[in-house]
Amino acid sequence: MTHPTSQQVDIKPRRMAFDTDTPMNKYTFDNNSLVSTFFYALSALFPDGERFFIHSVRNYQDEIEDPVLRQQIRGFIGQEAHHGHSHEALNDSIERMGFPMSAITARLQKRVAFLKRRLGRKRQLALTVAMEHFTASMAEFLLKNPEILDKVDPTIRKMLIWHAVEEIEHKAVAFDVYRLKVNNERLRKRVMVISMAGLFARIAYYQFLLLRADGHCPRWREWVDATRFFWGKKGILRDNVHSMKLFFQDGFHPWDIDQHDLIDDWQSRFPDVASLQTN
Ligand SMILES: [Fe+2]
Ligand SMILES: [Fe+2]
Repeated sequence: MTHPTSQQVDIKPRRMAFDTDTPMNKYTFDNNSLVSTFFYALSALFPDGERFFIHSVRNYQDEIEDPVLRQQIRGFIGQEAHHGHSHEALNDSIERMGFPMSAITARLQKRVAFLKRRLGRKRQLALTVAMEHFTASMAEFLLKNPEILDKVDPTIRKMLIWHAVEEIEHKAVAFDVYRLKVNNERLRKRVMVISMAGLFARIAYYQFLLLRADGHCPRWREWVDATRFFWGKKGILRDNVHSMKLFFQDGFHPWDIDQHDLIDDWQSRFPDVASLQTN
């Protein structure tokens, strides 16, 4: 069965009109190249990563009978597809600043094709469950601390907020399919460990490629500020550690972490983001 709280979320794919034409500051996160390239690396990962998530859920779609979950799967697929398109447009805009985003995504596409060939559908779904937990935790952090985006390029800020809301809305869809069709707690946890190691190695490598292409060597000050941004008292990764611990409990479900407050009525808290919706 799906978790009772999963059934209370309306997963609505929203089409958004982002302005990805206006040039932005090269290192838009407070001129910090380490923080900025972390988000550029994530943006490089999203389109092909999210298409893989869709693929891993589609592997089971026809076997799901619960009408609510079937509807939620459709919502999840629609949302992830829109995220991919929006981030592709953003990646083009980052590429125009001289960063090798398409070379990086070409590399990623090979990796995804390899994973599709090598992993069975259970492991593919477990990988999606792991990544969806990570993105929902990042999303929670951004929606709890939106002021960290105040000085960032407005298009990136709006895209991240919209993406964060939808990641929380659909955070349990792959999980509910996994629980119904695979339901292996050991595999779920093991794949989380492997996928986080792989994810952070990949992000670091992409950051290296981005900085090398720009011939930029981060200054001491950037390292200090980036360390604070990621691991400080209100650090984005430090915040993640807590929700990771919960994931490793037996019987964990994404909606054990109640994030309704962050998504209910989000339009009134972010009217400039909501106003970009076109459907
Ligand atoms: Fe997404
Ligand atoms: Fe997602």
